[in-house]
Amino acid sequence: MKLLVCGGAGFIGSNFVRQRLREHGDGVVVLDKLTYAGREESLQDVHDEPGFAFLRGGIEDADRVAEALADCDAIVNFAAETHVDRSISEPDAFITTNGRGTYVLLEAARDRGLRHVQVSTDEVYGSIEEGTFTEDSPLRPSSPYSASKAGADLLVSSYFHTFGLEALICRGSNNYGPFQYPEKLVPLMILNALAGDPLPVYGDGMNVRNWIHVEDFCRAVGTVLERGEPGAVYNAGGPDECANLQVVRRILELCGRDEALIELVPDRLGHDRRYSLSSDRVRALGWEPRTRFDDGLQDTVRWYRDNGWWWEPIRSGEYRAYYERQYGRALRD
Ligand code: NAD
Ligand code: DAU
Repeated sequence: MKLLVCGGAGFIGSNFVRQRLREHGDGVVVLDKLTYAGREESLQDVHDEPGFAFLRGGIEDADRVAEALADCDAIVNFAAETHVDRSISEPDAFITTNGRGTYVLLEAARDRGLRHVQVSTDEVYGSIEEGTFTEDSPLRPSSPYSASKAGADLLVSSYFHTFGLEALICRGSNNYGPFQYPEKLVPLMILNALAGDPLPVYGDGMNVRNWIHVEDFCRAVGTVLERGEPGAVYNAGGPDECANLQVVRRILELCGRDEALIELVPDRLGHDRRYSLSSDRVRALGWEPRTRFDDGLQDTVRWYRDNGWWWEPIRSGEYRAYYERQYGRALRD
């Protein structure tokens, strides 16, 4: 199969590209705008592999999408603005990319009769105090990020119902693993712990997330791509739920640092308390997660420790200004 992977230079997209090239023998064309979160470095080990091609461009640019799609059999769309905190301070790009960008891809898929897999998130269901969301739970997004993803999901479903497009949606829980930009909880806390910077925990630190290793999520997206039913939604949640403070304490332990580095800071606006996903539908297609959170977290800490070449340019660049705006303090040098 030859895939157009949109957002393939991001965290999950780059892991997916590696998996499809190496484990499935697919051809892959990556279309990525290379925003602050997109990095060609994340694909440098596959750059010269046969069957791989890279194009820089936005999914909202119909001409660039048409160019990228030549000879492709299916679209897998990871491209998005993804950070909740940025959607609170600067929502504009979330509407363009997550909304209009998805529309442009759907139109291109409709013109060519292609299968379209939309990568989405458990955040579209909102927060759940007890129990677990299924694919039939109502959409109640809380942030501009999750609202823009929910809007995109509804549009994807409408293209199946109205035009018969082979469109599918795969909603994941919180991913962690190699190549994640250090604005997200796990890599941010690992890099701060390694550097001896304070670890900023929002509110009381008791918000709960359902953690899935990125390679497990990529296999779920691949399963939906290969065996999913057109028009269907598939949830893919990780095997373990964990409160933020517990995650941060474990990271400190793995980095050999003291808990005194933990700093409780003002809460995120509209902060969802808990996410929890049931994955029965994708499990019925033969998928199951392989990595428990504690094992995956140890591997992830080791990866960041061993791969300073990947994150040092981020931590010494524009990210410093972002960090100061977001947390009101500078990072150590
Ligand atoms: P990321 O922020 O690491 O990467 C996003 C990628 O999209 C980057 O390479 C960026 O350059 C690219 N991009 C942004 N705007 C673009 C545009 N207009 N055109 C083309 N490319 C563009 O994101 P991620 O964490 O890898 O998330 C990938 C997808 O998975 C997103 O759709 C996200 O909503 C979804 N998701 C993420 C998680 C998670 O925990 N990270 C969980 C569930 C679902
Ligand atoms: O659930 C899937 C979603 O997971 C994806 O759709 C999003 O793209 C992805 O960013 C992620 O969203 P979260 O908001 O859950 O992830 P984040 O890493 O930003 O935060 C995880 C938890 O940690 C959340 O409760 C907020 C908290 N947090 C986060 C940061 C960045 C802190 O306490 N301190 C922080 O500095």
